[in-house]
Amino acid sequence: MPRPIAADPVSAPQKIVVLTGAGISAESGIATFRAADGLWEQHRIEDVATPEGFARDPALVHRFYNARRAAAASAAPNAAHKALARLQAAGRHDLLIVTQNVDDLHERGGASSVLHMHGSLAGALCADCGHRWPAPAVMAQEDPCPACHAAATRPDIVWFGEIPYHMDRIWGALREADLFVSIGTSGQVYPAAAFAQDAARAGAQTLELNLDPSALTAEFDEARQGPATRLVPAWVDSLLA
Ligand code: APR
Ligand code: ZN
Repeated sequence: MPRPIAADPVSAPQKIVVLTGAGISAESGIATFRAADGLWEQHRIEDVATPEGFARDPALVHRFYNARRAAAASAAPNAAHKALARLQAAGRHDLLIVTQNVDDLHERGGASSVLHMHGSLAGALCADCGHRWPAPAVMAQEDPCPACHAAATRPDIVWFGEIPYHMDRIWGALREADLFVSIGTSGQVYPAAAFAQDAARAGAQTLELNLDPSALTAEFDEARQGPATRLVPAWVDSLLA
């Protein structure tokens, strides 16, 4: 049940945690997952986003991520990515950007120190020794690992059933946050789907900026519906006014 909203919850916060999902990149032309034409309508999660799927057919998984890497490379950051970078650059708030996305549009939009909790298309990982290195545009399992030379190359993406990255840092920031803002996510995948509750339990105000109501909208102190390229710049302008 949303709590009474403080006088102006968006002007007072010092420590802000922002979580983004596929919706922030949608207006850059990158497919989301659960829309009618989403990625999970075209591919079975168990085939392309699980360790078992990779073990069964690594070439299929590499085709899926090579296509997403190419789509991300040809996309441009939009006004929402750039607004968050502007907020970070203003330096007036302690802002942590956490993303579920694996594209690099936050960084190409000017943001720094973005936490990719589901990994990144820009990374390659050796399934044998755990070595990480910059991903080539087109990756194949037989690419030899630069460290152990095994033919065990996989995308550095966190698949279902694997442990998301940076969780200690994220949970620590949620415990300290004055404001948690969720942008462009359907709130259906944990642990990210619990972040609003985690932050609220620690006393933060919570704000959702999303095209449509999500599975979690009722949990937020305030929820605004609309395209991220309109809502996020307006929210950042209200903070920097
Ligand atoms: N502006 C704002 N929000 C938008 C826009 C837009 N232009 N377009 C779509 N959205 C919203 C949708 O309303 C939806 O709630 O973005 C959300 C996208 O939801 P999903 O497709 O489920 O993507 P996401 O929430 O990021 O998925 C989370 O699930 O499959 C895993 O690892 C994958 O990181 C992903 C995770
Ligand atoms: Zn290796």
